[in-house]
Amino acid sequence: MSRPKIALVGGGQVGGNIALLSAQKELGDIVIIDIPEAENFMKGKALDISQLLPHDGYDSKLSGSSDFADLKGADVVVITAGFPRKPGMNREDLLQKNLSIMTNVAENVKKYAPDSFVIVVSNPLDAMVYAFYKVSGFSKNKVVGMAGALDSTRFRSFIAEATNLSSQDVNCMVLGGHGDTMVPVSRLATVGGVPLESLLDKETIKSIEDRTRFGGGEIVKLFGNGSAFYAPAQSAVEMVESFIRDKKRVIPCASLCDGEFGINGYFIGVPTVIGSQGVEKVLTFELNDDEKSALNNTLVEVQKTVEETGL
Ligand code: 2OP
Repeated sequence: MSRPKIALVGGGQVGGNIALLSAQKELGDIVIIDIPEAENFMKGKALDISQLLPHDGYDSKLSGSSDFADLKGADVVVITAGFPRKPGMNREDLLQKNLSIMTNVAENVKKYAPDSFVIVVSNPLDAMVYAFYKVSGFSKNKVVGMAGALDSTRFRSFIAEATNLSSQDVNCMVLGGHGDTMVPVSRLATVGGVPLESLLDKETIKSIEDRTRFGGGEIVKLFGNGSAFYAPAQSAVEMVESFIRDKKRVIPCASLCDGEFGINGYFIGVPTVIGSQGVEKVLTFELNDDEKSALNNTLVEVQKTVEETGL
């Protein structure tokens, strides 16, 4: 039996770290595909990561390429290709630049890895995952966007910091689009099963929610050139792992909604079960009025960016 094959389209900071973290979890063999000008750099990254694996005895084969034909046989494809945000840019400013890249990638994934499970990471996420879905014609269980996993881990980290309790015990979710209107659902957040609302005052919770919403922007500002990569990479790896190991984890992901939460025809962050069939299920629950209206606001933003794709 051969190992699962993970293809990474885009080997920048996010893609490179996905390769590293996936190899360290022995999730499978990994190919990193990028543009021809970066082919040697990809080969170098693959070689460099291969050479750290013996330290802990991890077995994974890595390679670098600029040939989409190397997607062949991929079980899972993670797409990070595209330009990152610069200070002052929002994710939507990136749309037109990254749309043509995504169109080309989608055509090639369809050609070479038609049965793969695809995780889109490129921004603006909600529009890019929609573009991939439309261009590739993949079924909805085979396409998902990575956003809520990242936004929720940011929310978790801020809760752990504010409560001075272990991040391991923080359970929470962020729903909606991957933009400034995302919806951290504080009402349902817990630490070790204890409701967050009984651990922190309203004002502190509100400041954590705000920081979460602008979590990506905070890092863009600090970097001065480019956007976050460590937490985005690990968030994508969690999704890859749940698929490859059929863990059926419940992760907030941009999944195509078909009536869930009253949303139809858009990819938006909702609690998603990821297993060997890809997106196996979207879990729903009753939202209160404030949450409903917040989800509606974020849906309007998602609809706007999706309309801009013209797809
Ligand atoms: C972020 O939120 C890059 O969108 C990504 O950091």
